[in-house]
Amino acid sequence: MAASDTIGVGFVGAGDISILHARAVQRCPGAKLVGLWNRSQDRAAQRAKEFGCKNYESPEALVRDPAVQAVFVLTNLETHLEYTKLALNAGKHVLVEKPVGVSVAEIEEMRRLAEAKKLVCMPGHNYIYEAGMNRSKELIDAGDLGRLVSCYAMYNIHHPEEVAKRYPGVVRQILTHNSYILLYLLGKPKRLCAMKACLHYREYTEEDIAMVQLEMENGALAHLCASFAADDHAADPWTVMVKVIGTGGSTRYSYRDHVEIKPGLVHSQTYTAYAGSIMNEVRHFLDGCVRRGEAPLSTMADAVTAQKMIEACERSIRDGSVVTL
Ligand SMILES: NC(=O)c1ccc[n+]([C@@H]2O[C@H](COP(=O)([O-])OP(=O)(O)OC[C@H]3O[C@@H](n4cnc5c(N)ncnc54)[C@H](O)[C@@H]3O)[C@@H](O)[C@H]2O)c1
Repeated sequence: MAASDTIGVGFVGAGDISILHARAVQRCPGAKLVGLWNRSQDRAAQRAKEFGCKNYESPEALVRDPAVQAVFVLTNLETHLEYTKLALNAGKHVLVEKPVGVSVAEIEEMRRLAEAKKLVCMPGHNYIYEAGMNRSKELIDAGDLGRLVSCYAMYNIHHPEEVAKRYPGVVRQILTHNSYILLYLLGKPKRLCAMKACLHYREYTEEDIAMVQLEMENGALAHLCASFAADDHAADPWTVMVKVIGTGGSTRYSYRDHVEIKPGLVHSQTYTAYAGSIMNEVRHFLDGCVRRGEAPLSTMADAVTAQKMIEACERSIRDGSVVTL
């Protein structure tokens, strides 16, 4: 597409996360949110008014519109495959929220279809679209951290039960983030073991905390934590914290570098990096991948590996075993 063309965007799904995506498209030069479709009409009409865009009567009508070149799939996990296929088959590029699919097979199907259609299909792996993460990766790739020793990717953000109930447990909902971060920075794991618990919900039975230990192919060890159970209020909190330690140096990325004292969607405070990472991701997708043909920083092949890690965690939890990938 020509550098001067405006990229028209359509949203399938207009839940909470669409608010951050709408802001991101608005701030992306050369892009415009054309319209959205949402299953419930009340929500669709309200969000279309807020975002100043069309409200399509069906997802088919949205993907048929020649004014739309890129579709964001922002619905619940179980429907990602259906809407991603619909958009790709209509010739549209796709950004699909994480977790990308419910199984490795689903993600493979999306990847193959996008390849066959020569379209971009990019996983919504937003956390790595941050300058601090990218600098860590550059240092690692250049060998400036020496021999990599360990990586910690920690997430401790309290989610009330009524919010958590809209999602799967934290293994799928959050460890997916930790997994693609680890893949981006350190590469693939060799084996892992995981544990989970449910500590603060009254009725919802999915886990609100999970932890994973991993041995990486490069010999380093890693630790991942995903918790909706409690915020970390102590000094230098591990709200979202990613650390890489090597024999030649180490790096840190933290959500606590920028905090606004107002609720941020479902978070008790606004962690600027959350919305910021989605802005960077959307810009990379639209301006980098769709317009200029650049590759995503995390690909559908990475989404497949991340899903294999999630399924290995589930097996480890179920059997109390160490799982080789
Ligand atoms: N990248 C991130 O940091 C991040 C954060 C939160 C959510 N997400 C992901 O974004 C997606 C949406 O999450 P959300 O927070 O907006 O949730 P939400 O509950 O606010 O919205 C869910 C959306 O899915 C739609 N939906 C539910 N069941 C449907 C069905 N059967 N058919 C069609 N539509 C259906 C709802 O109408 C709504 O539009 C999920 O995949 C979630 O994992 C990503």
